[in-house]
Amino acid sequence: MLSVENQIHIYDFVRVISEAINLVSPSLNKHHKIVTCIARRLVQAMKLKSADAQNIIFAALLHDIGIFSDEERDRILTFEAQGIDVNTHAHLGYELLRHFDPLAESAELIKHHHASYCDKGKSVPLGCYIIHLADRVAVLFDESREVLEQVPEILVKIHKTESVFHPDTLAAFARLTEREYFWIEAASSLSYQQALGSMQLSQEVIDLETLRSFAGIVSQIIDFRSSFTATHSKGVAAVAKQLAGLSGFSSNECAMLEIAGLLHDLGKLAVPNEILEKNGSLSEEEFNIIRKHTYYTYTILNKMSGFKQLARWAAFHHERIDGSGYPFHVPGNEFCKLSRIMAVADVVTALTEDRPYRRGMSREKTESVLWQMANEEKLDADIVKLAIEHFSFVNVIRAGAQLEAKREYEALSSLIDEKRKAPQETTLSLVQVPLKQQLAKNEAFTLA
Ligand SMILES: [Fe+2]
Ligand SMILES: [Fe+2]
Ligand SMILES: [Fe+2]
Repeated sequence: MLSVENQIHIYDFVRVISEAINLVSPSLNKHHKIVTCIARRLVQAMKLKSADAQNIIFAALLHDIGIFSDEERDRILTFEAQGIDVNTHAHLGYELLRHFDPLAESAELIKHHHASYCDKGKSVPLGCYIIHLADRVAVLFDESREVLEQVPEILVKIHKTESVFHPDTLAAFARLTEREYFWIEAASSLSYQQALGSMQLSQEVIDLETLRSFAGIVSQIIDFRSSFTATHSKGVAAVAKQLAGLSGFSSNECAMLEIAGLLHDLGKLAVPNEILEKNGSLSEEEFNIIRKHTYYTYTILNKMSGFKQLARWAAFHHERIDGSGYPFHVPGNEFCKLSRIMAVADVVTALTEDRPYRRGMSREKTESVLWQMANEEKLDADIVKLAIEHFSFVNVIRAGAQLEAKREYEALSSLIDEKRKAPQETTLSLVQVPLKQQLAKNEAFTLA
């Protein structure tokens, strides 16, 4: 049976992936943390079963995973959102996660996390309404002001639109709002982990196949941001896996290297779209921003105890044997074989893949670039030799993996188009409704 270098718990992995998608913007980062913190206190106040609570927390951590453009993010992170399409990102988030078994239920919650109670009532799981309320409270926070002074205004806005929220979530919310800690904790991005720390989250360990499937999802999210490199991660992963096999590594090591390949450009989530999509040469400043991506890949993956080695294989792909790479300038003797394979796989894929603005390089040209880099002590000569000896085989595997990724990319793109054309649901009805009920207050509540 294939195994991961150390045990990786599902919660650790979800948390790290949430941090990775949060690299896309500081506002999304804070938003996911605030929503998670509020959702955590709501599930506690509502005394939900721990399995349900866990699905809700995983969904809260990832709920806006389907937002791909800066413009869509800015629109959705506002309260006065009438007329805004809220379907697309919610459905896309669902589509990305639904085939990944440990998150299948969370995916259902993400699908309807903007559902309005007055439209959908009981047809939508309660967890969706918990995330919906947490989400709408979160977008009302004004970072530039003291949180406690904002409470009365936030309550007025939520009560004015109360018909869109589930009554049980409103009742739980009412019990929490009088307690200052609830607001202080939610507004501090430091305290969300502490809030989660008091939950009994599953100790379920992820096996290698599950890890591979989730890494595939993450690679889609990385690559989907730019049509220029829409299938790059899958190509690098396939080439790295084959080169590791040809170098005599075990099937376990090859599978782990494939996962590292899928995640090698994780840090590109921190690079703005306009730089990734720029048609033309990059300015020095833009190039410097791109150069940061491997640092972020390393920092995020290295946070998982079971991923210490994998973080190096993934993040050292722009390091060079003579120390001229970036960002760590890893000395040759610390630049291990699997990291060197990844560096070769990245170059092979970058040279041979088709991009919208150019065709992939011919075999002859690719070989001459690879030999030159090996001669200049940029790439490992033994691995380059292997890649060239088995060029046809490796290239067919790469092209097949990228063709499959292209189909996934096109399916996601057409799903987005379809959702954008569909009749829109809006985040909130801004019609003022009278308070239907005095919210329940002061019920017994224990802080954990
Ligand atoms: Fe959302
Ligand atoms: Fe959200
Ligand atoms: Fe890269």
